[in-house]
Amino acid sequence: LAAGPLKGRRVLVTSGPTHEPIDPVRYIANRSSGVQGTAIARSLAALGAEVVFVTGPADVPPPEGVQVIRVQSASEMADAVAAALPVDAAVMAAAVADWRVKTASGSKIKKVAGALPVLEFEENPDILATVSQMASGRPALVVGFAAETDDVVAHATAKRARKGCDWIVANDVSPATGIMGGTENAVVLISDAGAEEWPRMGKQAVADRLAKRIAAEIG
Ligand code: C5P
Repeated sequence: LAAGPLKGRRVLVTSGPTHEPIDPVRYIANRSSGVQGTAIARSLAALGAEVVFVTGPADVPPPEGVQVIRVQSASEMADAVAAALPVDAAVMAAAVADWRVKTASGSKIKKVAGALPVLEFEENPDILATVSQMASGRPALVVGFAAETDDVVAHATAKRARKGCDWIVANDVSPATGIMGGTENAVVLISDAGAEEWPRMGKQAVADRLAKRIAAEIG
């Protein structure tokens, strides 16, 4: 482990999308690349943290020097997060699917001419809210993310209150920004102190800046 302000601190990072199975060969997912979460884990490790990196199927490999736990679905991610606790800080950058298929088929659903399958959904556990609202053993700092397409600050501020996390890193992912799947990010850090707008920069630069802030808070 690197020497640095986070030496001796254990930090959990969730990252990437989740895949929710329909049957053994099909799934429902979202457009998260895992780039921002991976960059955050890398930055935290560089500052000396012991990083537990829980990742869904991302487009990029995990960083060096972290403990990697690979998961597919939101329920698997929830279990992996529970197993990783206790931690000093939790950074929940994963784009967790809100719903899963209620009864995923154990065998491939066959195509039948003229008959369309109907999928019924049920809600996935909200991992961020669960960790934020733990009665005992809650991480000292819980950071959530908010990908919004409109009224970014208002929606993210409401989300922070609803989930009970300490900070929200909010970004505008409307298609015109090119942020989803891109190399840059423009975020607003929402905390007790209000909304702090960061200039547009590379995702690794966002990660470095966030990791420094985390070190200032819990280091
Ligand atoms: O409610 P929404 O999905 O927009 O919230 C985003 C934040 O909540 C992210 O930090 C994400 O990792 C977290 N989240 C979660 N579990 C869910 C849904 C979202 O941890 N089921």
